[in-house]
Amino acid sequence: MPPAHLIPSLEPKLRDLYARHKELAKAIDWAYHEYLPLDVLRADPQSLPKLSAVSYLAVETALFTEVNLPWFTTGLYNVFRGAVSPMREFIYDWTAEEDQHAMLLETYLLLGDNGDHRERARLRKIIVKQGWEPNIDDHFQAIAYTATQELATRAFYQRVALVCRDEDPLLARALIRLAKDETLHYAFYKDAVKAHLEVEPNYAEPLARILMDFAMPGAEMPDYATRAAVLAREGVYGPDHYYDMVVDHLWKEWDIPGLLPSAEPARAAQKTLIAHHRKLGRVASMYALRRKKEKADGAASAAAGSNGATHTGGGANGSANGQASNGHAAEPARTDGVYGEVLKTAPKS
Ligand SMILES: [Fe+2]
Ligand SMILES: [Fe+2]
Repeated sequence: MPPAHLIPSLEPKLRDLYARHKELAKAIDWAYHEYLPLDVLRADPQSLPKLSAVSYLAVETALFTEVNLPWFTTGLYNVFRGAVSPMREFIYDWTAEEDQHAMLLETYLLLGDNGDHRERARLRKIIVKQGWEPNIDDHFQAIAYTATQELATRAFYQRVALVCRDEDPLLARALIRLAKDETLHYAFYKDAVKAHLEVEPNYAEPLARILMDFAMPGAEMPDYATRAAVLAREGVYGPDHYYDMVVDHLWKEWDIPGLLPSAEPARAAQKTLIAHHRKLGRVASMYALRRKKEKADGAASAAAGSNGATHTGGGANGSANGQASNGHAAEPARTDGVYGEVLKTAPKS
């Protein structure tokens, strides 16, 4: 597959998208201290709610994704080297906006005295030391990847906010604020991809390469598979949310079945993507059903006086802090994760 460059005639379009981003970001400009529970702390330091194990795990997982910003910036800076200027300029704005995300989450956890601060710092160091290298071949793949991961990040924040709203409304407010930033990032990349697919439907081929093999940049954090499995099981964010809020959303935005590629490899890639989309849909339904059944079983056994069948927010291995049961962080493979596991057992198309 030859490299899918950004199309030079689309430079004005990219410049417009960048200008739109700057305007929208300015309209919702914020500082991270505004979303910390400082007033609550001043009034009564004891009144800040302690997070449940599941909410803590979700926030820590988000934090561990955000902390690798130095490497995400490095990766995207290198990937977009030689790309048209609006794309390169966007990375600077994007970095400044993302810079507040880890700061807000880490400070929130510290102020509420949530989790083991020393352990979190240890894992954080491992993650940043690991670095990150994008598994991307060209500029078009880069915008397709970033659109997908920004949307997935938004979906994750929205789900966590919903789940912890009753537990800690101020935390939910902070997470929604982060989701808004991710929405703007997503909108920039998503419309850049859309414009390219309209001009060059044969880019269905590099698009398929990204969508078939998608893994979050945070997937390399220690024990990611366990974290993803626990959060999916607890109904925070699983394959069903991923399908509804990311895969199917992009499917419609980019009208993948409606593309009319002329090259045979691109037509073949489109067919593969259509089959993949169906498969993910089946996996999502299967997963949602399974969770519903587990919940019902748990409620039934709780009603019967049993104490062993409900989920309490502990990890799949008995830990809620993302550590393997032996106390050491596992080192998952690059695309390891609950989706990979679930796909292995998915019904054939
Ligand atoms: Fe972020
Ligand atoms: Fe983002």
